[in-house]
Amino acid sequence: MDASPISILESDLYLQKGVEVYMKRDDLIGGHAQGNKMRKLKYLIRDAVTQKADTLITFGGAFSNHLYATAWAAQQNNLKSVGYVRGEIDPKNPTMRACAGWGMKLHPLSRTEYRQKDSPEFLEEVRNKYPQVYIIPEGGLSELAMRGMAECAAEIEQHGKYDVWVVPCATGATLGGLLQGAQGKQEFIAMSLLKGGDFDGLPPTVGHHRGRTKIVAAHLGGFGKFPAELIAYIKGFHHQHSIFLDPVYTGKMMLRLDELIRHDFFAPGSRLLVLHTGGYQGILGYNYRFGEVLSVG
Ligand SMILES: Cc1ncc(COP(=O)(O)O)c(C=O)c1O
Repeated sequence: MDASPISILESDLYLQKGVEVYMKRDDLIGGHAQGNKMRKLKYLIRDAVTQKADTLITFGGAFSNHLYATAWAAQQNNLKSVGYVRGEIDPKNPTMRACAGWGMKLHPLSRTEYRQKDSPEFLEEVRNKYPQVYIIPEGGLSELAMRGMAECAAEIEQHGKYDVWVVPCATGATLGGLLQGAQGKQEFIAMSLLKGGDFDGLPPTVGHHRGRTKIVAAHLGGFGKFPAELIAYIKGFHHQHSIFLDPVYTGKMMLRLDELIRHDFFAPGSRLLVLHTGGYQGILGYNYRFGEVLSVG
């Protein structure tokens, strides 16, 4: 996988506040496993192949970037795939359609069943059904996913020195991997997209470094909430920078980052590095649910 580029974002706000904001464009790499997805899947898929698995199984919501990326990456690697979906499956939803198109077998789980998905009983049932299975946790959260993300940290440090790295956070695998890979003294801002996301239950690798990570609530009311100011922000951002942001992760992250900058959260002269983790397919999901409002590639 080629290193993704880093470019500076030009904005009157950043100029006025004396901060420089750079964006690591992981949205430009990974194909349909764009952004943090291929980085997280890279070593998991390698491990699956080493273990001679023939089927990847994973979990997610009906609009999940992770299910979408896993379905595509499985097909690319000549593996079968199975996705357990939280709630009902609407076969017309663009995420489900794409997953099915790449050959993923989709099974709905009720919310109660979904909560049991990591239980030994459920996993045994899955293994009985698919004997050569490789199970990837929801969102890919695992040491192997973090190993892939650590490579992103090395790329950033090769490029230059940044005082603060800004990262969108749900399961925390992306942040955890960057923390493992980063050698410098930079601080981290975890833009938390889950309501109440305080990173409890994350792998200890994330917890160890909590000291240099500030957690900022960026959910704007909840994971599935898309206030009008967010949609307006995403459109304005595209107009200004010709870069797409998705409404679930990167749009919320950038909107909150601008708010922090506006409120003088960063000292003048600070160099910030923000990671664009992709998620464009979420734009299609948004448009499917709310009308053709946002543009994408
Ligand atoms: C586009 C995008 N950005 C950020 C994240 C958050 O990553 P993590 O779950 O590793 O914290 C996700 C979810 O995996 C995502 O799909």
